[in-house]
Amino acid sequence: MTLKQNNNSQKILIAPSLLSADFSKLAEEVIAVEKAGADILHLDIMDGLFVPNITFGPLVVSSLRPHSNLIFDAHLMIESPERYIKEFAEAGADWISIHAEATKHLHRTIWKIKELNKKAGVALNPHTPLNVIKYILEDLDFVLIMTVNPGFGGQKFIKNCLPKIRELKNMIDKRELDILIQVDGGINSETAPEVIKAGARVLVAGSAVFGKNDYAKAIEALKPST
Ligand code: DX5
Ligand code: ZN
Repeated sequence: MTLKQNNNSQKILIAPSLLSADFSKLAEEVIAVEKAGADILHLDIMDGLFVPNITFGPLVVSSLRPHSNLIFDAHLMIESPERYIKEFAEAGADWISIHAEATKHLHRTIWKIKELNKKAGVALNPHTPLNVIKYILEDLDFVLIMTVNPGFGGQKFIKNCLPKIRELKNMIDKRELDILIQVDGGINSETAPEVIKAGARVLVAGSAVFGKNDYAKAIEALKPST
């Protein structure tokens, strides 16, 4: 991945989740987190079927795209995501993650993303074992470990996900792969050091950033102190 080429491979990347932003002024919110030092903008796409909540679709993503240079990371919490990969890619998503639980053909859908020259990730719900990605790990750019049940912001971090992050890190290191581990759900200044220690490199944070008054301070608080 380009991150390694930039000699930047150990940097912790902070991805504020737009789900906790003020939806009456989305563009302003995106501009504000970019200015505050965010690395990635995490876009939670929910269909009311895979998860019990509905958010927004490609139209909102394409409307925000001209306002930001951040990496747009679309986390598709939708049933049969293969139906909408092209739409989100064309809307301006740079990274696209799909849930292993939501598609029958994970490998095919991952390649659909990669063929559009986007970074492809698989998201795993807290109960989903790592063996579902064992035979496709080489095809992935990142893995999203859900540390809450998907659907809502502001939930409590599920501690039992820590051994899963460690196990995934071992799997990746053993095979000498360059795959980012992303974590999503309940990440704040207390849980951030724990997930980083376990091997996470990309920290999604909704309420811990957009729920605070000072976004720059909130982003800084999630990064390692050294
Ligand atoms: C939950 C979403 C998360 C959510 C995280 O389904 O995937 O991205 O926005 O919110 P916090 O950081 O508040 O737990
Ligand atoms: Zn998410």
